[in-house]
Amino acid sequence: TDSYTIDVIPGDGIGQEVIPAATACLDLVAERHGFALHWRDREWGSDYYRSTGRMLPVDGLEQLSTGDAVFLGAVGDVDIPDDVTLWGLLIPIRREFEQYINLRPNRTLPGVPSPLAGDRQLDVLVVRENVEGEYSEIGGRFRRGRPDEFALQEAVFTRQGIARVTRFAAELAAGRTGRLVSATKSNGIIHTMPFWDEVVRETAADFPGVTVDKVLIDALAARVVSAPESLDVIVASNLFGDILSDLAAAVAGSLGVAPSANLNPEREHPSLFEPVHGSAPDIAGKGWANPVAAIWAGAMMLRHLGRPEAADDLESAFGAVLAGGTRTRDLGGSASTGDFTEAVLVALRG
Ligand code: NAD
Ligand code: IPM
Ligand code: MN
Repeated sequence: TDSYTIDVIPGDGIGQEVIPAATACLDLVAERHGFALHWRDREWGSDYYRSTGRMLPVDGLEQLSTGDAVFLGAVGDVDIPDDVTLWGLLIPIRREFEQYINLRPNRTLPGVPSPLAGDRQLDVLVVRENVEGEYSEIGGRFRRGRPDEFALQEAVFTRQGIARVTRFAAELAAGRTGRLVSATKSNGIIHTMPFWDEVVRETAADFPGVTVDKVLIDALAARVVSAPESLDVIVASNLFGDILSDLAAAVAGSLGVAPSANLNPEREHPSLFEPVHGSAPDIAGKGWANPVAAIWAGAMMLRHLGRPEAADDLESAFGAVLAGGTRTRDLGGSASTGDFTEAVLVALRG
């Protein structure tokens, strides 16, 4: 049978709960479709940092480079600064492996209560630029501890970076409604954004069936809530996409149902699949975490590996469980992570 080598990093907090839930579902769906997932367990993260002073081994990225994909839970620990944990593990993987697309689907799902009024629906793909923009390494804190202390950060946008994320988003839009919305802030003072607009417009012009609508990020945030059906594919810079995707997740029902794929579209390096949410220290260890985001991220991984039927089965299985009324606490239910996962396994055996 075919086998795929997946590096699995459960990481911190609820990562340790949702990842085993998802790998159990992935193993079963793989078995039923005649392939195998060879998991390489990577106990990297904050505990690893406490014992070694590093978030991952010196040759950690080299180890990951030989796998077919990376499956991550979350990183982040209340006792370690986020710049140590995130810039020590997640951000280097995204950058070293040129995962310049962060694809984040969000949709209202049967059985998942949404804060939207009535029976309004949301079905958006946020295509987030994932390696540049506002998340730059240029800047720092200066004159520490002095009255004139300040912090500075430069946003870095490149023509190539904007063009490639736009092409990816435009291709997706072409296969859907043809409507592409670009998140911007070009009404004056953010100097990078007129450049963003220009490159987005020029790039999308190569896609005849696609219309681009540039929408200011503040108004776009409102529109996610007030007119969600007017949105389909959204292309956004790193920070705007980060914020919009948590917003869209909450509008769909919860951060617990928001998956994400950090893609290297050229497939020169492994891609990384993870929930949008973090380590959720407020509920870690309680068995309350919603595993849907992790399971759905796993389905995105199967699609990327060329197993769309298995991905469809997995999405149908958790969809049916939700529609049947089994819900974790974030969705107003009382199912534990284990209860929900067991129900998905039963649905898969169906
Ligand atoms: P968070 O996403 O961890 O949690 C936000 C809120 O959503 C919390 O109330 C949490 O309980 C709830 N929540 C999140 N996922 C849930 C799930 N699956 N089921 C039920 N409820 C869920 O964001 P935060 O609290 O801002 O960050 C916590 C830590 O995680 C920080 O250290 C942060 O830097 C890190 N973080 C990591 C990643 C990542 O590894 N990709 C992403 C976001 C945040
Ligand atoms: C995400 C997270 C990360 C990001 C943080 C934890 C660095 O919020 O994956 O959305 O901002 O990219
Ligand atoms: Mn985020």
